[in-house]
Amino acid sequence: MISGKVAVVVILGLLGSGAGRAQAPAVRLEKDGSSARLIVDQRPFLVLGGELGNSSASSIEYMRPYWERLREMHLNTVIAPVYWELIEPEENHFEFGLVDSLIGEAARHDLKVVVLWFGTWKNSMSCYTPVWMKTNSRRFPRTADSTGRSQEIFSALGKETLEADKKAFGALMRHIREVDASKRTVIMVQVENEIGMLSTAREVSARADALFNEPIPDALAGYLKKNGQRLVPELKKKWEENGSKVSGNWAEVFGKGIRTEEIFQAWQYARYANEVAVAGKKEYPLPMYVNAALPRPGVQPGRYPSAGPLPHLMDIWQAAAPAIDVLSPDFYNPDTRYWCDLYVRNQNPLFIPEMHFDRSVAAKVFLVVGHYKAFGFSPFSIESPSEASSSLGKSYGLLSQLAPTITGRKWLAMDGFLFDRTNKSYSVRMGDYNITVSHYNILPWAAEGKDSVWTSTGGMIIQTGADEFLVAGTGFVAAFSHADAGKVTNIVSADEVTIVDGREVFGRRMNGDQDHQGRHIRFATDEWGIQKVKLYNTAKAIE
Ligand code: DGJ
Repeated sequence: MISGKVAVVVILGLLGSGAGRAQAPAVRLEKDGSSARLIVDQRPFLVLGGELGNSSASSIEYMRPYWERLREMHLNTVIAPVYWELIEPEENHFEFGLVDSLIGEAARHDLKVVVLWFGTWKNSMSCYTPVWMKTNSRRFPRTADSTGRSQEIFSALGKETLEADKKAFGALMRHIREVDASKRTVIMVQVENEIGMLSTAREVSARADALFNEPIPDALAGYLKKNGQRLVPELKKKWEENGSKVSGNWAEVFGKGIRTEEIFQAWQYARYANEVAVAGKKEYPLPMYVNAALPRPGVQPGRYPSAGPLPHLMDIWQAAAPAIDVLSPDFYNPDTRYWCDLYVRNQNPLFIPEMHFDRSVAAKVFLVVGHYKAFGFSPFSIESPSEASSSLGKSYGLLSQLAPTITGRKWLAMDGFLFDRTNKSYSVRMGDYNITVSHYNILPWAAEGKDSVWTSTGGMIIQTGADEFLVAGTGFVAAFSHADAGKVTNIVSADEVTIVDGREVFGRRMNGDQDHQGRHIRFATDEWGIQKVKLYNTAKAIE
């Protein structure tokens, strides 16, 4: 292979067993610009995941029938919560039975686990904190809503709250190391869940107000000094409009108003999440990420969960939380490309821990992995009976075959695409070829009477040699032409392939009706597959 860039290896996770020993890290993230490879046991690992519904992992019995089904859907990873209130029902008294069962069942079904730490915050709220915390608001201060009414959202400024979270999370990570470091079932951890302030943009209290009027922290000033010219445009604009200052209070540096209040709050949340992550990594340094609830357009911070790891706040989160390796979006809106484009800035690799589980995920996964080089994908509430299960299973089936090629970077070029009623076509250049891919329903005979069924479809193209490609996915047509207008491109062969242990096993030759007599490669909307395509070229003018 073949990708030209030199990988900057950032060792973020460590060791199979025994902290401190000099040995190859068993679980780590290797960053390379804005993409990353998750390395598990010295091999890159593409997370073909699914996140459990919030309550499922709280009952061993409830989960029992689902494990087999997850494997049948070709998942290799389950993303599952660990609930603070259930592991520390009394202060300093930890119970890890549920965690052990989760890890044990996953391992028995050949699944990896990403742990979600439902700690101080879960979807803004503090609903999973233990009752001994909820009932002691003097020790664990709450925030107030816009009317001044106490809400079940703990303050990010509560020192004892932070210490309690660090202690509990540290105990959890220590336990995971003890029971799993030699097996590496758990491969990554999410710190908190969809952090974000409601119903104001920032906390309002005497302490918060005082902090807001103090100079910005030195760490932020240093970050601005170093990265001022590289800030994401949303933040850069605000900062420059206010004079590009590297000292002063929050309003002096970023201007007055609700957007600056959000920046201030983001700093508090990110600093808090960072300290929790540091406490956890001290015990067992697995890669760690945070996730964000994406806002609806035109809505003000506080009406949406303010100050989470959102695109316009990436710099703030990255400056305040260096122990957090990845900022992740949760998708409950259709605008996949728009948000992915925003999240791959600032060298942030893409990992999608949640996406609304409908039939379109079976197509979106190809865009996310092929185009954005995400190292993981995971629809939400994966165990729920859904008509989307079988289509996702088919896409994951293809991707698990392709994973060694994708993550091993055994390609010259790779891209992925997604089609629906509004995005019906896409063009890309790979080597000497211009490739146009389109929704299958653009074919005159396919579209007949089908205007109402522009099912989301998608796929990916991997260039494995100068004139060789792997084309995979569902519901599209791919046509190849030479970039040199003096040449005409034709298909030598289109072969159905299955990839077994990295080896291509050939099935049908598709050179007749299936590739329209050499005109294009195609998969119908209810068809999933991988084809190996070889091309040849002739001069345009007849010799
Ligand atoms: C996003 C959250 O992160 C999940 O825990 C869950 O609450 C879903 N929303 C529900 O749609």
